[in-house]
Amino acid sequence: MGESATPVKAVHEAASSSAPPPPPTSAQIPPRPASKPVGELYRIRPWHTVIVLTLALLLDLPFLIDRLALSPYTSHTTGGVLVTGASTGIGRDSAITLATKEPGLIVYAGVRNLRDAKAITALHLPNLLPVTLDVTKDNSVQAARRTILKDLASRGPEPDNPLPFVGLVNNAGVTGMAPLEHHALPEVEKIFAVNVFGLLRVTQAFLPEIRKHQGRIINISSVLGALTVSSFAAYSASKHAMESLSDGLRRELRPFGVSVSVIQPGFVASPIHAKAETAAPSPSFPASTDYPHLSTPAKRAHLVRCRAHAASPRSTSAAVADALLQPFPRTRYPVAAVDRVPAVVFTLAAAILPDRVMDSWLEA
Ligand SMILES: NC(=O)c1ccc[n+]([C@@H]2O[C@H](COP(=O)([O-])OP(=O)(O)OC[C@H]3O[C@@H](n4cnc5c(N)ncnc54)[C@H](OP(=O)(O)O)[C@@H]3O)[C@@H](O)[C@H]2O)c1
Repeated sequence: MGESATPVKAVHEAASSSAPPPPPTSAQIPPRPASKPVGELYRIRPWHTVIVLTLALLLDLPFLIDRLALSPYTSHTTGGVLVTGASTGIGRDSAITLATKEPGLIVYAGVRNLRDAKAITALHLPNLLPVTLDVTKDNSVQAARRTILKDLASRGPEPDNPLPFVGLVNNAGVTGMAPLEHHALPEVEKIFAVNVFGLLRVTQAFLPEIRKHQGRIINISSVLGALTVSSFAAYSASKHAMESLSDGLRRELRPFGVSVSVIQPGFVASPIHAKAETAAPSPSFPASTDYPHLSTPAKRAHLVRCRAHAASPRSTSAAVADALLQPFPRTRYPVAAVDRVPAVVFTLAAAILPDRVMDSWLEA
């Protein structure tokens, strides 16, 4: 303590005894160097280009290696494809697109009632057929499987040589909107029953055929399979589970030559958004007073803008067709946008940005 007292005292004395220095005269202030013109400061030099190209090449390298290491997947232009949840929206458009694009495919459109079955039949596409399917029910899935395999058998070139079953598009899905504290458990269970267990139930039922014929699986996930936003956390959790199941399937099925792809749409115009609101499971939401920050005018306006700028289901159908028909299907297809920000920006940001940066961005 004594050792440190002396220098402190000395500093105080020096400070009080010395008078403040006089302000410098203008003649003493050195002139500021003239600033460079903005154009010169930001001029792109050749080595900038070299750095950008090298970075781009390095970022692309894993994809290039992946592509070189891959042998092409079997592309089927004949055989059966099932699209679940094809009564409306993304599923319906995908089923119509596949049937129109590849007349050799027999596309089975999964629907849950007679009215939707008739609407599919009324399209008069000879290779688009409705099939009754509730993905949450074992007997419904098994009955759909029997119907499809029987129909494919009847279309084969010979009685004992059926058309193969070559593709499954797991699209059936439901959503829900509430803060987790208020999200009624039966509603959360329903979301998982359709989006996760339904997907697994149908996949298990059709995998023997898909493996036998080197077919493909396409799962309709969401940009919310890569990140989670408030009020949609239960739905996001179901899509994260779907992403994980898809990764597992892709790795387990690699040796069989079965490709598994995930479509990650942003906002796509479909009845699902209206359904989310009418199915709002908590009477206290969005009027909930304990979570007012989840239902601010700014948040509501954002949701309205998202819906107003929702992409056509044609964007998802193009990705589904690519994943089903291209020799080198991608594992993930971020498509469409969220309030005009492309889905890929969100999926990339979720992969690289720190959690709290994402929190501030998504919940601003
Ligand atoms: N639209 C978007 O912005 C968006 C964004 C990201 C991801 N997605 C995903 O895209 C998929 C399709 O959604 P969408 O937007 O096209 O909505 P949608 O028009 O409401 O379609 C959902 C489909 O799933 C069916 N479905 C619901 N429960 C079912 C069950 N238990 N068994 C069989 N089918 C069932 C519905 O049949 P019913 O008509 O009989 O109810 C309907 O055909 C969903 O997985 C959704 O999560 C949508």
